[in-house]
Amino acid sequence: MRILIINGPNLNMLGTREVDIYSNMTYQYLEKQLKEYAGSQAIDVEIRQTNLEGIIIDMLHYAAFEKFDGVILNAAAYTHYSYAIYDAIKAINLPVIEVHLTNPKTREEAFRHTSVIESACTKTFQGNHIQSYIDAIDYLKDHYSS
Ligand code: DQA
Repeated sequence: MRILIINGPNLNMLGTREVDIYSNMTYQYLEKQLKEYAGSQAIDVEIRQTNLEGIIIDMLHYAAFEKFDGVILNAAAYTHYSYAIYDAIKAINLPVIEVHLTNPKTREEAFRHTSVIESACTKTFQGNHIQSYIDAIDYLKDHYSS
């Protein structure tokens, strides 16, 4: 099976970004661990990171055009206000799993308590750091591999 993982804005700064919240895990380490885990499950994974909303939308379309089996999306701050990403998820006929390293719903800033993309997504895994992504890979494997 083929999965596209899309990471949104500021996730490239992991390792030095608010380490008290996100830990000192670097973005490169996150990608490496996910590639290794997917490989161990015989899953073909492609991982992309962008700081731009429109590129996230293009990547969602690309996942559909290229017939991926599913998408794992950490839309980062766009989670909380991007109706364009909500529409893009609805526009593609693929399972999209929302993931977050932290649990935004329990964080201090009120704007993080709402996910405008959640209802367009098939499932959400959040608050378990890298394990949120692993759980999303397992979910897609268990429900969508043919
Ligand atoms: C995040 C949570 C978001 O609220 C935040 O804007 C991020 C990262 C997470 O993975 O915990 O950039 O998506």
